[in-house]
Amino acid sequence: MLKSATAEKILLEFDPQKNNLLLALKEINANFGYISKDNAKKTAEYFSLPLSQIYETASFYDLINLEKAADLVIKVCSGADCVLGGANKIVSEIENYFRIKSGDKFNPKISLEIVSCFGMCAQGPIMVINGKIFEKVTTSRMHEILNEYV
Ligand code: FES
Repeated sequence: MLKSATAEKILLEFDPQKNNLLLALKEINANFGYISKDNAKKTAEYFSLPLSQIYETASFYDLINLEKAADLVIKVCSGADCVLGGANKIVSEIENYFRIKSGDKFNPKISLEIVSCFGMCAQGPIMVINGKIFEKVTTSRMHEILNEYV
C-alpha cells in the first residue's frame, strides 16, 4: 500500500476508457485495500460513468473489496479437495480460537471468509492471511501460523 498514493494519481495512470475501468479499480483496491464511496465517486467522474456501473463492476470480482477490510483477514478454502483435507475443521478451530463466526463483516479487527476455491486444490487445504497463502494447512500448523499474527 503506497501511503502517498491518491485515487486521483492512480486514475491518471489510465486512459479514461471503459475497458480500463477494472484495471483502475484493481489498482485503487491494491493501494487502499478497498474502494471507498469517495473513491468510487471519483472513479465514476473520471470515467464519465454512472456510479452504479462502478459498483456493478467492483462487486463482480471477489478480489475487489467495497468495505474496509479488517486488520486480520483470514480466508479458508471450502472447495471439495480442501474439505477432504480438513478445511472445515480448520474453520471451526479459527472460529473457536478468535470467538468469531465466518462471514461476520462487522468485526473491524478480524474477519474469516470462506472461499469456494483458490485454484490450488492439490496444495490444499489452503488458508490465506492478509493475502499471504499457506498450503497444506493442518489444525496444528494453523495455530503456529496464527501465532505469528496475534
Ligand atoms: S479446493 Fe481448495 S483450492 Fe481448490
